[in-house]
Amino acid sequence: MNAPGTNTTGSHATGTGAGTGTGTGAGTGVGVGGVPRQRSPGSGEAYVTIAGVSKRFGSALAVDNVSLEVRKGEIFCLLGGSGCGKTTLLRMLAGFEEPSAGSITIDGQDMAGIPPYERPVNMMFQSYALFPHMTVAGNVAFGLEQERLPRPEIDRRVAEILAIVRLGDYAKRKPHQLSGGQRQRVALARALAKRPKLLLLDEPLGALDRKLREHTQFELISIQEQLGVTFVVVTHDQEEAMTLATRVGVMNRGQIVQVGTPREIYEFPQTRFVADFIGSVNLFEGRLAEDEPGYVRVVCAELPAPVLVDHGVSAPPQAACWAAVRPEKIEMSRQRPAASDNWAHGKVHDIAYMGDMSIYVVRLDSGRDVRVTLTNRTRKPEEQFTWEDEVYLSWDASSPVVGLG
Ligand SMILES: Nc1ncnc2c1ncn2[C@@H]1O[C@H](COP(=O)(O)OP(=O)(O)OP(=O)(O)O)[C@@H](O)[C@H]1O
Ligand SMILES: [Mg+2]
Repeated sequence: MNAPGTNTTGSHATGTGAGTGTGTGAGTGVGVGGVPRQRSPGSGEAYVTIAGVSKRFGSALAVDNVSLEVRKGEIFCLLGGSGCGKTTLLRMLAGFEEPSAGSITIDGQDMAGIPPYERPVNMMFQSYALFPHMTVAGNVAFGLEQERLPRPEIDRRVAEILAIVRLGDYAKRKPHQLSGGQRQRVALARALAKRPKLLLLDEPLGALDRKLREHTQFELISIQEQLGVTFVVVTHDQEEAMTLATRVGVMNRGQIVQVGTPREIYEFPQTRFVADFIGSVNLFEGRLAEDEPGYVRVVCAELPAPVLVDHGVSAPPQAACWAAVRPEKIEMSRQRPAASDNWAHGKVHDIAYMGDMSIYVVRLDSGRDVRVTLTNRTRKPEEQFTWEDEVYLSWDASSPVVGLG
């Protein structure tokens, strides 16, 4: 029924992206079939400490009082929309900008007044540029030649790093003889060649198509594991942050609004902004009707039944609040659920067929549209939902996230 091409709700499903890539195995490493296992953020000591850092450009505050620790050996992703201050923060770590306030400590050393070339840091810029007239090997060797290392040492390091980014056979080519992804790996090799302890990557995979991006993400993880470098990666792509990061710092308007593992950020957003920014979410406005230590009930004008949540929040009764339910946590059925909470009724208004799953937009009796994602586990026609089907939606009390304000 929902044939490919009948995709009407638009682009891809941000909500499910979060889960992809992170498998269930503990520990580290690239797992079966190139899918990285979920990695533990570890409890390593802080390698970078950013304390109360702000950056002003004239009257504009590009970075606003950021405090953050990056642990040794982690891949920390700074995630946020365009103009939120990611590059500015990275440039302060690299030493290209001085903070207007606050301090940055790297490996125990205060970086105030330390120029970029004396920091244990290398930065791969948002618009990296390879030298077009130089070979791949020449590009990678460039920084080492600047340091006047002996030739055999340079050759040895270049060969080593090209092997790591799997470009050993391409050493003699010029950049224009490479694919976009290969060029990106040369830029990465060039940044790695100087063996920085801290590597700052600004939108490193921006130029790559989706497949190549995924592939390069996994390679980055495996490089990180081989070399033990600490990475800070800037991205505005949440799937990328979810796949790469041990921990994510979500930025908005110059501030860090939440720091956590990809899972924490997705499952337990602390603010409405983070809930809405990461993945897709159904957010209902309401008020707190019952507030007990172990559960709360939120009454929302757009829903026929209260939202029951299996944890408490501390707020005055009747406080204005929001309840957010992810599309993949909603069940869809033709039968009315038995429970008196956590359900809604409506009609299938739109369907986007994505292959492995489908996105349904269900228009509730209140007129509110709710997004539901279901995996396409079966081809049986009688188990499919179609346009205008009457459906009941329901979800578990552990699923909603409730916040105030
Ligand atoms: N040198 C500068 N002079 C004045 N304003 C600047 C300067 N550099 C950055 N800004 C401003 O600071 C804010 C943050 O910019 P920044 O480059 O850090 O954003 P970003 O998060 O990296 O965005 P993007 O995802 O688009 O790269 C923006 O409003 C930008 O216009
Ligand atoms: Mg930027």
